[in-house]
Amino acid sequence: MDYRLCVIEGDGIGKEVVPAAVRVLKKVLPNLVVENAEAGWETFLSQGVSVPTTTLDSIRQCGAALFGAVSSPSKKVSGYRSTIITMRQILDLYANIRPVKSLPCLSPRQDVNMIIVRENTEGMYSGREHLEDDQAVAERVITRRASTRIAEKAVELMQAGSRSKLSIVHKANIMPLTDGMFRDTVREVIDRLKKTNDTWDVEEVLVDTAANRIISQPEKLDVIVTTNLFGDILSDEAAHWAGGMGLAPSINLGDGLAVAEPVHGSAPDIAGKGIANPIAAILSTALLLRYHWHDEPLASRVEDAVSRAIADDLPIADGKFANDTKTETITQAVLARLN
Ligand code: NAI
Ligand code: MG
Repeated sequence: MDYRLCVIEGDGIGKEVVPAAVRVLKKVLPNLVVENAEAGWETFLSQGVSVPTTTLDSIRQCGAALFGAVSSPSKKVSGYRSTIITMRQILDLYANIRPVKSLPCLSPRQDVNMIIVRENTEGMYSGREHLEDDQAVAERVITRRASTRIAEKAVELMQAGSRSKLSIVHKANIMPLTDGMFRDTVREVIDRLKKTNDTWDVEEVLVDTAANRIISQPEKLDVIVTTNLFGDILSDEAAHWAGGMGLAPSINLGDGLAVAEPVHGSAPDIAGKGIANPIAAILSTALLLRYHWHDEPLASRVEDAVSRAIADDLPIADGKFANDTKTETITQAVLARLN
């Protein structure tokens, strides 16, 4: 098989964690062909565009990409559009898969194993905002098409693994048209695809209740399917139980295309110090192996190497890596477990 990867480091600690993750991926895929590409805030400042066409072409040609993180302004900057949202929408990366799984020593709860399946192209992130004098309006767009695709992805995940419960998270009581359409479409897809020998259950949870349950009973949640903004917020919340942002991986999937990315941002507070945790980026490459290259044994191999490196090799105190633990130390510990 031909393994090609477009590598987009982006800004801040993206430049530190992505090279580390590429080293790990090359260890298990020695024939991996890497193509470097640019995107992000620095790219916008130098080229006037956050995602150059050459980068989009490179992702399309490689089929798979690893994206670090970007910095973005919190105020409107003329001509700037969010890098990752641009990529998701132009490449139609409609499913964002965010697993939250406990890791030894670092995770405050040891039995969490949930996956958040987040619609990735519309909802509150439709990009449709406008001003009406003193009123600012954002349009929350829900389509039957996108709801169908994300539901199909969630069902595929239920049927692929040993998952037991699918929670449809919405707020249809307050937004009956938009979230009503989302909920009803997901239900229709489940009715169409669920097989008689599928043993998993389906439930509906309102988003505020889901936020509470992620805190109070995270072990009882399994697979969550939800809309864009809800999935964004709930996945950061859930990531706490795995040990925090430095450990949370994700993957954006389209038809035949995948962009893996750590959930965290560019972390300007620690950028350039060589202390960024590369595990979120490394675990994101395991998601490429699992969901894009469909190589479960290799995906598990990378994840096991991370778990064993944490349990056996790395200095940990009070659920955290010791303060001076370097990106390089963590990377080498994982690489050593892949020998
Ligand atoms: P952040 O995720 O960059 O940082 C939040 C906190 O977590 C910081 O204290 C940071 O030091 C820590 N942290 C994050 N990743 C870490 C790692 N790998 N190892 C150790 N510590 C880590 O979020 P923040 O501070 O809200 O945003 C900073 C910038 O990143 C902003 O410009 C924001 O727009 C951007 N951002 C980009 C994202 C992306 O590219 N997908 C996602 C979130 C934020
Ligand atoms: Mg987020």
